[in-house]
Amino acid sequence: MTSFDVTRRQLLAATAVTGGALAGGQFLSGTTPPAAAQGAATAPVPLNVVLRVNETEHRLTLDPRTTLLDAVREHLHLTGSKKGCGLGQCGACTVLMDGKRVKSCLSLAALVEGREITTIEGLARGEQLHPLQAAFIERDAFQCGYCTSGQIMAGVACIAEGHAGSPQEIRDWMSGNLCRCGAYDHIVTAIQDAAREAGSVRGG
Ligand code: FES
Ligand code: FES
Repeated sequence: MTSFDVTRRQLLAATAVTGGALAGGQFLSGTTPPAAAQGAATAPVPLNVVLRVNETEHRLTLDPRTTLLDAVREHLHLTGSKKGCGLGQCGACTVLMDGKRVKSCLSLAALVEGREITTIEGLARGEQLHPLQAAFIERDAFQCGYCTSGQIMAGVACIAEGHAGSPQEIRDWMSGNLCRCGAYDHIVTAIQDAAREAGSVRGG
C-alpha cells in the first residue's frame, strides 16, 4: 500500500462523514474545523410544545425549527393540510389560527402555543360537513384536490371576514390560494353559496 492510497482512503472517509471535500482537507492537514462547521453538525435542543389543534391539546417534543405545517402533518398525522411551495406563496397549507387564516408553512410550531389551530380535519361536526365543504362538492370546485383543503380553510375565513360580497371580491381576497387546475370559477361559486347560507354577505 502506498502512502498515496492511505491518503486517498482517509480523504474519502472524511468526506462521507462531513459531506465536504474541504473538511477532508482539514482532516488531512490536522487542523481543527472552524466553529461554524462544528455548530452546523449540532442538532438544536428539542422543545416541549403544547399545541391545541381541532379543540384537542397535544404535547409534542419538537425540533425548534419545526413549522406548524410539519407539526400537524408529520407529528399529528393530520395530512389534510398540504405542502405545496413551503414558501408562503401557494396557500395549500392554509389553516385557521384563532379563526384567522395563516399559512402554516411560515409559522413555527413553538411560537403558536396556546393558539387554537383548526385544520380541515376539524371543520366538519361529526358526520355533518361544514357548509363550504358541502358547497365545494356540490359545485365541483376541485379537480386534483391538492389545493382544496387550503382553499376551503381560506374560504371559511374569507366569509367570516365579510369579504365574500361579490365574485370579484372573493377572487381578490382568495388570491393567496393558487389552483394549478384552474378551478377558480367553481371555487368562487362555492364560496358565494356558503356565504349566502351563512348570511354573512356584507359587501365591501
Ligand atoms: S405550502 Fe405554504 S404557502 Fe405554499
Ligand atoms: S384542484 Fe388541483 S390544484 Fe386546485
